Amino acid sequence: MAYTKTLLCFVFVAVFMASLSDARKRNATHIQFYMHDAPSGSNPSAVRVAGQPTNSTGSEMGAMFGFGSIYVMDNSLTATPDANSTLIGRAQGLYAMSSQENELSLLMTLTYNFVSGIYNGSSLSIVGQNPVMNEVREMPVVGGTRVFRLARGFALAKTHSMDQVTAVIEYNVTVIPYY
Ligand SMILES: *[C@@H]1O[C@H](CO)[C@@H](O)[C@H](O)[C@H]1NC(C)=O
Ligand SMILES: *[C@@H]1O[C@H](CO)[C@@H](O)[C@H](O)[C@H]1NC(C)=O
Ligand SMILES: *[C@@H]1O[C@H](CO)[C@@H](O)[C@H](O)[C@H]1NC(C)=O
Ligand SMILES: *[C@@H]1O[C@H](CO)[C@@H](O)[C@H](O)[C@H]1NC(C)=O
Ligand SMILES: *[C@@H]1O[C@H](CO)[C@@H](O)[C@H](O)[C@H]1NC(C)=O
Repeated sequence: MAYTKTLLCFVFVAVFMASLSDARKRNATHIQFYMHDAPSGSNPSAVRVAGQPTNSTGSEMGAMFGFGSIYVMDNSLTATPDANSTLIGRAQGLYAMSSQENELSLLMTLTYNFVSGIYNGSSLSIVGQNPVMNEVREMPVVGGTRVFRLARGFALAKTHSMDQVTAVIEYNVTVIPYY
């Protein structure tokens, strides 16, 4: 008898938890933006601050993707792929060439600092691996500030376009707020 009650109690708790997580999923916030990363050129938004000595006769890309290189970035985040569209925020932080294999994998540690709209003044923190040659990369959202305090989520990144100087990366970020 007591056993049955305990079992029923477990079932009830499990159903309650399942419905809670569904409700939280429905409440998830989706944010889309485009990041403009220019690690070279006359006005770079990301600068190399550490790493192996570069081979100046090699290509810019070769030096850029050398294992061990660390970059500091301050990249703009805009509403559309057009660099002159509404500024949503800035991606500020570090990325490191963290793979010895020839796969161009970055460790990203950065914040998205929002500067307009309803998230103005709030930020999200990202830590994760970014194998840039994969079509879609996923990075965990590990927290945030202001409206995103104690938030959890994930960011999906896809390269939208790339030229000699700038890569435009599309981001879809899903955040579940803490209540
Ligand atoms: C969904 O969001 C609203 C308003 O932001 C909040 O009041 C409500 O508690 C949230 N629901 C869940 C299940 O988290
Ligand atoms: C530097 O790069 C050039 C061109 O890619 C290559 O021929 C040369 O061997 C490299 N030198 C060193 C020391 O890696
Ligand atoms: C953005 O605006 C600047 C200044 O008005 C202009 O020089 C630049 O070409 C524009 N860039 C794009 C991608 O439209
Ligand atoms: C964002 O917030 C700052 C500080 O509160 C304010 O100065 C600025 O005008 C806001 N920007 C927008 C676009 O709302
Ligand atoms: C973001 O979402 C849009 C619309 O759902 C989709 O077309 C696009 O492929 C997604 N991009 C990424 C990087 O997940």
